[in-house]
Amino acid sequence: MIIGIDLGTTNSLVAYFTEEGPKIIPNRLGKNLTPSVISIDEESQVYVGELAAERMLLYPDSAASVFKRDMGSRRQFKLLDQTFLAEELSSLVLRALKEDAETYLGETVEEAVISVPAYFDDARRRATKRAGELAGLKVERIISEPTAAAIAYGLYQSQEQARFLVFDLGGGTFDVSILELYDTILEVRAVAGDNFLGGEDFTAVLENLFFEKHYKLDRLSLDEKTLRHIHKQAELCKLGFGEKRVSKMSCKIGEEIYELEVDLPKYEEACGELLERIRRPVKRSLADAHIRLSDIDKVVLVGGATKSPVVRRFVSKLFKMIPDTNINPDEAVALGAAIQGAMKERKEAIKEVILTDVCPFTLGTEVVREWENNQYEGGVFCPIIDRNTVIPASRTERLYTVRDNQDKIRINVLQGESRFAANNLSLGELLIDIPAGKAGEESVDVTYTYDINSILEVEVKVISTEIGRASCRERV
Ligand SMILES: Nc1ncnc2c1ncn2[C@@H]1O[C@H](COP(=O)(O)OP(=O)(O)OP(=O)(O)O)[C@@H](O)[C@H]1O
Ligand SMILES: [Mg+2]
Repeated sequence: MIIGIDLGTTNSLVAYFTEEGPKIIPNRLGKNLTPSVISIDEESQVYVGELAAERMLLYPDSAASVFKRDMGSRRQFKLLDQTFLAEELSSLVLRALKEDAETYLGETVEEAVISVPAYFDDARRRATKRAGELAGLKVERIISEPTAAAIAYGLYQSQEQARFLVFDLGGGTFDVSILELYDTILEVRAVAGDNFLGGEDFTAVLENLFFEKHYKLDRLSLDEKTLRHIHKQAELCKLGFGEKRVSKMSCKIGEEIYELEVDLPKYEEACGELLERIRRPVKRSLADAHIRLSDIDKVVLVGGATKSPVVRRFVSKLFKMIPDTNINPDEAVALGAAIQGAMKERKEAIKEVILTDVCPFTLGTEVVREWENNQYEGGVFCPIIDRNTVIPASRTERLYTVRDNQDKIRINVLQGESRFAANNLSLGELLIDIPAGKAGEESVDVTYTYDINSILEVEVKVISTEIGRASCRERV
């Protein structure tokens, strides 16, 4: 059995495929959502999910949350006297989900499809894969979250042809994808997003309003426990807007009670800047897909933060249509990941859907460019795989030496959209030896291969000697 896992910033879910379609597996507490929170105690006992979230309020030094934002980085999370990387904390969440699935299904589970934001780069995807492996799971596939959500919707579409936009605003990340379904082919046309925009930011708006009102409270001098308490109350206040037009938060700090009452228009106004940031990736994905807003048949909402009335109103206005929420926005990604798992296993009950995905960003290298009259400009970004190219993709670029007797070529593997190398993210470097010669005589072929899991491999071949060198990065 291959399970599908949505490893979220705030909440994680696990699903499996049945004869009747995909289903969420409830956790040991009977809930569909498991908070992505880890806590440990003095005896090194690990707590995951709701229990950990409760402990975090009491013992903030022993717990960590929102670590998905640091996936693939070297940031160390300190829990009591132990330190963890984000991928290690994630592996503890994954292990708990695996165990819950095993208990529920009554069988061992060793394989999984895990979802990641479309906008996750190579390092973050690899870290996610490692987290799965640390949890004892063979990671069959890393799938982009909006693609997974689109599969969940696409599979049960009545129309034969539809263009839809998946709008995924989770706890920490925002992804937009444009997909086209014809018959049994589901094609991702474009993706765009913001790795640092999500429900957490909409909570922070209320925290800021709270501190603005109680300006005498010195935020910087408050301890972690108090800050967590305020955050929790702000979160509850935010959720309150689901039913009421006025929501309140009340925090006990020391012996005093501090309150804040906000009405919806005021909250909406305070969220203005965040809402503006939503527009950008939407525009870009449409432009990249060469699709007009009016050509979109359906807007699908995914992610807990799309339940907010402020976000819903904004989305309805932006797209001039009522978005589709037939599938619970919390669950679509996990359900889609489970379907993807079943497709891998070629389950009979499943309609065969052929899926094509795209590379979410441009990948290239740094070069020196020659202009007229022997003028050179260094630090130029040379794209090799353009963003939104259908994957898997493999592209080769031939690069020439620029100086006489140059005996090395440096391949700086870059990701980004700026024409200046320095503004893009460096994923790694390769230094290649070449025979010294006259400028422009020697050359290398640089091949970038972006595989179906959106993991990059770089290969460099020196043309004159035919000596090739694969990237130091392992093949997945
Ligand atoms: N009714 C609601 N109104 C407003 N916000 C909500 C509501 N329900 C959930 N949220 C917010 O949704 C966010 C969590 O969404 P979700 O569980 O989809 O995120 P995630 O999958 O963990 O994150 P990501 O996909 O970014 O990794 C939280 O910030 C939460 O406050
Ligand atoms: Mg999510």
